Amino acid sequence: MERKIITTRDGSKTIHFPEINESYHSQHGALQEALHVFIKSGLSHYLTNNPEKSTLSILEVGWGTGLNAILTFDFMQQNFPDLKVNYYGLEAYPVSMEEIHALKYVELDTIKNHRQAYLAMHEAKWNEVASINSNFSLQKLKITIQDWQTITDTKPHVDLIYFDAFGPRVQPEMWTPAIFEFLFQLTKENGVFVTYCSKGQVRRDLIAAGFDMEKIAGPPGKREMLRGLKKIEP
Ligand SMILES: C[S@@+](CC[C@H](N)C(=O)[O-])C[C@H]1O[C@@H](n2cnc3c(N)ncnc32)[C@H](O)[C@@H]1O
Repeated sequence: MERKIITTRDGSKTIHFPEINESYHSQHGALQEALHVFIKSGLSHYLTNNPEKSTLSILEVGWGTGLNAILTFDFMQQNFPDLKVNYYGLEAYPVSMEEIHALKYVELDTIKNHRQAYLAMHEAKWNEVASINSNFSLQKLKITIQDWQTITDTKPHVDLIYFDAFGPRVQPEMWTPAIFEFLFQLTKENGVFVTYCSKGQVRRDLIAAGFDMEKIAGPPGKREMLRGLKKIEP
């Protein structure tokens, strides 16, 4: 399928598939979307509610360009430099380095000081743990979520899930009750799940999986998004 690098409305770039009119990020603003959905509504929200944490584990479903990972790295350096992060990036179809360079994320203000860290994330070997710095480890897992769900390796338990799959319109097999139940099992008590999607069926399936769901304000160009909480068992 044809892939094109396009510039979104906030000036940051993304990868677009013209045939199916789908993109890696919102065309209203790739950077703004990532900052709003995953960093502000996910990471920052979680840490505000769990100030005692000394280690944080995050699973991103659809690691893609690594934009959410490097924004997480930046947020932690700015706000919680002593907190350790174990980041897991699940990705079935890695983006080529040619496209990573063409996206020019290292030129964005938030990322330009982290050029080396961003390249280290991309150079990290698949399926191995890499230290991006002394407090941030990354393990990129090259597998489909469906296959990962069925293999019997030891899976991480995480505080935070960034669910950043292509939309249910183009990839409904990523938004199933079975996948949400699997992700609920991987979430620690008090853990948080965030996604840019706000569809009613997705919300209902996440509730059925066990999450307490809320609809919250979405990023520019999108009224709402979803956030889930795995409540502590009484
Ligand atoms: C919306 S894009 C992700 C954007 C990414 N978070 C970023 O910031 O660049 C969805 C990602 O899911 C990946 N993907 C597609 N099918 C998958 C599957 N079955 N399992 C895991 N990842 C998949 C795609 O290759 C793509 O990188």
